[in-house]
Amino acid sequence: MSKMIAPSLLSANFLNLEKDIEMLNNSQADWLHLDVMDGVFVPNISFGQPVIKHIKKIANKPLDVHLMIVNPDRYFEDFKKCGADIITVHYEACTHLHRSLTAIKNLGIKAGVVLNPHTPVSVLEDIIYLCDVVLLMSVNPGFGGQKFIENTYKKTKQLKEMIVRNNPSTLIEIDGGVNTTNSKQLFDCGADVLVAGNAVFSADNPMKMIMDLKK
Ligand code: DX5
Ligand code: ZN
Repeated sequence: MSKMIAPSLLSANFLNLEKDIEMLNNSQADWLHLDVMDGVFVPNISFGQPVIKHIKKIANKPLDVHLMIVNPDRYFEDFKKCGADIITVHYEACTHLHRSLTAIKNLGIKAGVVLNPHTPVSVLEDIIYLCDVVLLMSVNPGFGGQKFIENTYKKTKQLKEMIVRNNPSTLIEIDGGVNTTNSKQLFDCGADVLVAGNAVFSADNPMKMIMDLKK
């Protein structure tokens, strides 16, 4: 089982992103997690294509773009052009999820579905075979630094069972409130990728924190 860490740039220093990205380039981080928020699907507004385009120029790891926006299909091609290697869309924002995932995969990049904390894993039964990644939100999306929702352990195990049963190579990603008090248990439940914003960027030694989260 893979143990990957995807630091979320939402908690990075926006006045000096280059410094933080260089740190991540030299760290054991596996993906860079980029949170795109539109102020409609979630209460907050973050950043979009112009920022991601510049991050791509210096990042040496895959860009994992988490779209917290309504009608995300309008922008798949744009985000791919800006350097997205993985695009994840919310189940709650896609009326035609099969169409959305197919459109992302047709661009030659990885496609994933995100579930809000209240959305059961069972809704994925007939779409799991198309998912390169399933991201379980362990907080309500919109902000960094929130408290981890404990019910995520149960959902992670249920999702792992569904993946094993259907035999796809789907990765399980967890996002929100991840820190060293829950990382080990999440990996034990079947998670492959942990997103961490606050835990990494508020640490005295972010590179060491990334290593500690993998232990
Ligand atoms: C929340 C975002 C997360 C967030 C995680 O809406 O999707 O990626 O940045 O931040 P932490 O790790 O601080 O909860
Ligand atoms: Zn995210």
